[in-house]
Amino acid sequence: MTDGVHLGSGKVRELYALEGDRLVLVASDRISTFDVVLPTGIPDKGRVLTGLAAFWFARTRSICPNHLLAVRPDGRSTECRRLDMLPIECVVRGYLAGSAVKDYRTTGQVCGHPLPAGLAESDRLPEPIFTPATKAQTGHDENITREQAAGIVGAERLAEIERLSLALYRFAADYALGRGIIIADTKFEFGLDGDQLVLGDEALTPDSSRFWPADQYAPGKAQPSFDKQFVRDFCEKTGWDKTPPGPELPPAVVAGTRARYVEAFERLTGIPFADYLADPSVVLR
Ligand SMILES: Nc1ncnc2c1ncn2[C@@H]1O[C@H](COP(=O)(O)OP(=O)(O)O)[C@@H](O)[C@H]1O
Ligand SMILES: [Mg+2]
Repeated sequence: MTDGVHLGSGKVRELYALEGDRLVLVASDRISTFDVVLPTGIPDKGRVLTGLAAFWFARTRSICPNHLLAVRPDGRSTECRRLDMLPIECVVRGYLAGSAVKDYRTTGQVCGHPLPAGLAESDRLPEPIFTPATKAQTGHDENITREQAAGIVGAERLAEIERLSLALYRFAADYALGRGIIIADTKFEFGLDGDQLVLGDEALTPDSSRFWPADQYAPGKAQPSFDKQFVRDFCEKTGWDKTPPGPELPPAVVAGTRARYVEAFERLTGIPFADYLADPSVVLR
């Protein structure tokens, strides 16, 4: 059930405006891999993402205010404060993965951060680093330098979002590691409510982060992804060329992937997913 004016569709979520400068973000069960949304959904994926983000929002308020107002009983709709979103993605990396591997190999740096020599793919970095990116309308987001980011949001604002992004990442990465999940990197989006800087969007979910199972961690190669590995492995095997349309997923891949999302939720929150389905407000306590 949704009321309000439909404002738009993202890759995964639908946005509706409510009165009083509020929004509803409705997370669908759409899944993308290699940046292509697949024709088959993963049942309850949107609920897992919504519940996890709300769990983190409720636990990080002392680090940074956020947009969360309520989670609706459907478990996939978040009521939030409507923000003027800053047009950069605030990426924090604690491990060497993804686009950072190539940057490091060619320059010894990642987005202007010099790193020690001899790091292997998936190694933990000496310190988490902030590597902002622009929000691309389609396809891959583009890494930008600190100077470029300062040109977009202003130097003072950039320093503030860097500090907050690092603090949020450190808190969540520690917490998750205690529950067997490495948060290798993650992306935050901030916005303004008047003059107040507020954390928006989703945060610290498997869609906005790389989650790795800690018990299988073995640097020197790419790590299995906690949630999408089944889908990626299946897609690779079909010989699909990674351009749209993506392949349909068979029931076993759907079930295996759903189980991994639910497992990530339960491990991180310590809450049975069935309890969340019965009453989504359990994640806020
Ligand atoms: N509190 C908020 N106010 C206004 N816009 C928001 C807020 N939180 C998130 N958004 C925006 O809503 C959209 C969420 O939809 P999503 O499916 O994640 O889109 P995308 O494909 O851009 O990732 C994003 O564009 C995000 O910047
Ligand atoms: Mg998004």
